[in-house]
Amino acid sequence: MKIKDAVALVTGANRGLGAAFARALLAAGAAKVYAAARDPSTITEAGVIPVQLDVTQPHQIAALARDLGDVSLLINNAGIGGSGPVLSPESIDMLYQQFEINTVGPLRMTQAFAPILAARNDSAVINVISALSWATLPGVTGTYSASKAAVWALSNAMRQELKTQGTEVLSLHVAFMDTDMARGVPGAKASPDEIARLAIAALESGQPELLADDVTRSVHAGLTTVPPMYLGMLG
Ligand SMILES: NC(=O)c1ccc[n+]([C@@H]2O[C@H](COP(=O)([O-])OP(=O)(O)OC[C@H]3O[C@@H](n4cnc5c(N)ncnc54)[C@H](OP(=O)(O)O)[C@@H]3O)[C@@H](O)[C@H]2O)c1
Repeated sequence: MKIKDAVALVTGANRGLGAAFARALLAAGAAKVYAAARDPSTITEAGVIPVQLDVTQPHQIAALARDLGDVSLLINNAGIGGSGPVLSPESIDMLYQQFEINTVGPLRMTQAFAPILAARNDSAVINVISALSWATLPGVTGTYSASKAAVWALSNAMRQELKTQGTEVLSLHVAFMDTDMARGVPGAKASPDEIARLAIAALESGQPELLADDVTRSVHAGLTTVPPMYLGMLG
């Protein structure tokens, strides 16, 4: 898909990777960028159109799909972190919340916007996933990894189903980025602006999946090592 003259809708666009996507889309020549946030007054990027959206609220998603009939690129970026052992009692509530936002949110959005994307000549969905869809930091990311593994699977299913209407789907897998979500994580982190630029370039070159950094590529390669990395990785 070409970004020039595209009309994009980015969820969670008030900060982090979402705000970086909004900037990168405008720089790449998008005609319009709808920047969605739970509180649209927190959208500060110049040149975007703020819209209100909590991805857990089906009525808000339906209203947005009624109002934004010109969207050609949907970026499912909104997400939450959260960590702890899966065997702690709190993990069940965390799992429900992460699935609602990280997994069901992108699915609801894609269902609502699929007919709108179908009406455009050139259209796409980007699903922001994670390197942690293929691995779990022991005692830390069990439920988050589960939500991202599930949205990876859904993203592959969306690609198959949207192909018939000519809508591309790009799965973006990325390791730690320098955003609020990874604020407490030590070590090197990717720049969200760089990741947004890489994702846009991948979309423009027709790739179905982007492994955006060396850590993500090594986690992906670890799926087929013997033993596979997920059996005991990063412990
Ligand atoms: N940072 C990393 O290291 C990393 C690595 C791999 C993948 N990711 C993924 O990248 C995406 C962006 O994360 P980020 O790093 O930019 O994190 P962030 O800075 O914490 O931003 C998260 C965004 O999601 C929004 N959001 C949360 N719940 C929402 C809801 N119910 N409805 C609508 N928006 C909601 C937040 O809005 P509010 O301001 O209203 O809370 C915020 O805009 C997420 O899908 C995340 O899982 C992040």
